[in-house]
Amino acid sequence: MRDQIHVLSIGEMMPAVDAALAQDFVVHQASAKGIPEIVAEFGDRIRGIATRGRQKTDAALIASLPKLEIISNFGVGYDSIDVPAAMARGIIVTNTPDVLNEEVADFTVGLLLSTIRELPQADRFLRDGKWPRGAYPLTQTLRDRTIGFVGMGRIGQAIAKRIAAFGVPIVYHSRKPQAGVAYKYYSNLKAMAADVDTLIAIVPGGASTRHMINADILAALGPRGILINVARGSVVDQDALAEALRKGVIHGAGLDVFADEPNVPQSLLALSNVVMVPHVGSGTHHTRAVMGNLVVDNLRSWFAGKGPVTAVHETPWPKIG
Ligand code: NAP
Ligand code: 8YV
Repeated sequence: MRDQIHVLSIGEMMPAVDAALAQDFVVHQASAKGIPEIVAEFGDRIRGIATRGRQKTDAALIASLPKLEIISNFGVGYDSIDVPAAMARGIIVTNTPDVLNEEVADFTVGLLLSTIRELPQADRFLRDGKWPRGAYPLTQTLRDRTIGFVGMGRIGQAIAKRIAAFGVPIVYHSRKPQAGVAYKYYSNLKAMAADVDTLIAIVPGGASTRHMINADILAALGPRGILINVARGSVVDQDALAEALRKGVIHGAGLDVFADEPNVPQSLLALSNVVMVPHVGSGTHHTRAVMGNLVVDNLRSWFAGKGPVTAVHETPWPKIG
């Protein structure tokens, strides 16, 4: 054990990650003891955090750990971490980019087709014994659609590559055109929503994207509209979405992410034109294992004096300036 380096592990971390960390560090599992108790006893010794999603790594927690050097996030999205608070202390934040691109892209295509062709609804129809009384109703199609990407980064491009094989047009919106991406670019999300009938959201969460898909955008998408959200629940105004689905402002939605996970409001649960799954986009043994390895590698590399492996852009390495 390297000179007793203490690491706090929070947020339902995979047991394999905690076990790998324990080979090199003294690991304090919040799931076993509780963060306040660990901070009270070991707060002045903890130098690293391994964290996963739902449990926030907020300014108060960061402030309670005076020796903290690195926060290693399980997941490419790190909106649960107060990055400005980390930056103010020179604390490195790392995430797990790229290793999940293909998995999440495969999944998103599945969610898109499930939503358009109503696969879960048709499954329920069969199980409920309704087939002998008549065929399942005809559904919408991917055939005549134009897909508008909200976000065209690492995962967006992996999804687009797959969608392109289906032979349907692709366009995208982000804050600036993406280097090397030839699809038509829209600087204005509402203008894109008005021109397409299908949106796939794959942007980061956080303040800059909060509720960017709102009642206005859904109205522009229109009555044939399908929204697929694999980004973060915060990106969509969830109340406005439930209302739009209920009133037929858009046709349907496929959701992997929600505003207040794991809670899903009755306003969505009551609707049959929405396909919902519990944030499982990267949830395979294979991909979660490689994500976990990267969480561990970032901490090992940092404490071996070699810098982080995958620092987020706000805390670049080597440090600039
Ligand atoms: P990425 O490579 O950083 O791409 C992000 C894209 O979003 C870029 O095209 C970026 O372009 C655009 N963007 C960022 N802020 C924006 C804004 N305010 N308005 C419009 N566009 C904006 O990230 P990634 O690796 O593809 O991952 C994207 C996100 O997917 C993650 O942050 C995470 O929240 C989510 N995700 C979900 C799952 C799941 O299980 N459902 C799994 C993995 C990731 P510009 O910077 O030019 O705007
Ligand atoms: C993870 C994700 O499941 O990488 C992300 O941003 O949303 C998912 O891959 C999640 O972050 C950790 O539970």
